[in-house]
Amino acid sequence: MEITVKSLNFSYTKKKILKNISFKIEGGEFVGLVGSTGCGKTTLAYCLNGLIPNSIKGKFSGRVMINDFDTKKHKVSEMARRVGFVFQDPDWQIFSLSVKDEIEFGPRNLGLDKINKRVKNALKIVGLNGLKNEEPNQLSQGQRQKVCIASVLATDPEFIILDEPTSQLDYKNSKNIHNILKKINKEGKTVFLIEHDTDFLAEYCSRILVMNDGRIVKDNTTKKVFSDVRLLKKTGIKIPTVMT
Ligand SMILES: Nc1ncnc2c1ncn2[C@@H]1O[C@H](COP(=O)(O)OP(=O)(O)O)[C@@H](O)[C@H]1O
Ligand SMILES: [Mg+2]
Repeated sequence: MEITVKSLNFSYTKKKILKNISFKIEGGEFVGLVGSTGCGKTTLAYCLNGLIPNSIKGKFSGRVMINDFDTKKHKVSEMARRVGFVFQDPDWQIFSLSVKDEIEFGPRNLGLDKINKRVKNALKIVGLNGLKNEEPNQLSQGQRQKVCIASVLATDPEFIILDEPTSQLDYKNSKNIHNILKKINKEGKTVFLIEHDTDFLAEYCSRILVMNDGRIVKDNTTKKVFSDVRLLKKTGIKIPTVMT
């Protein structure tokens, strides 16, 4: 598994949002993306799962490759088997009337045995086993976010992108989600996490990309990035209190 972004530029309208972005992610990495609000993180994430340029229009140039799949040449639904996406707000994602239905959607075209296995495993990883018959809208925000993660896991993509999955959660729920992500990565998934909690990133990520005004201004090991206090201050990123 390998993700390659090369000379990526994007604008929704006239204003350029992504500016000449290039990087590569190897299979099994846990990469964090940080940057202040509005710098283009979500836009970049939409380029990684093919929403841009396939569903969201604008001026796109450069290339995004997921293994040998060029995102420009494949439908978003086709990409979803390779790239899982967890949105910032679980309510943008959940559409089913039960937790089980929601999680079954990804693997719906597999055989019944395989579907059941995938659902069971996904529920186990996020710890929602007892809630599979519940209505998602009766669950807490944290539980709903776990449903989203479970539905992505049930599709079994190699690469999982999460866009600030804990921004609406309290400390305990955030910690819980973070532990799930750590587990997912340990089991071999490549994780790309947009996250403002630099303490969490300092603990778990091997590598950090720093974004500022549409550019990747630093791409290095977590240790190197988070010890560059000048850069963190300049780009408005919270200096982590725990350093690994
Ligand atoms: N659909 C859209 N149409 C036009 N501009 C957009 C759209 N979505 C985001 N933008 C603009 O693109 C810039 C980057 O936004 P975004 O990628 O959401 O940043 P971040 O996730 O880092 O907060 C912002 O200036 C935002 O207003
Ligand atoms: Mg965003």
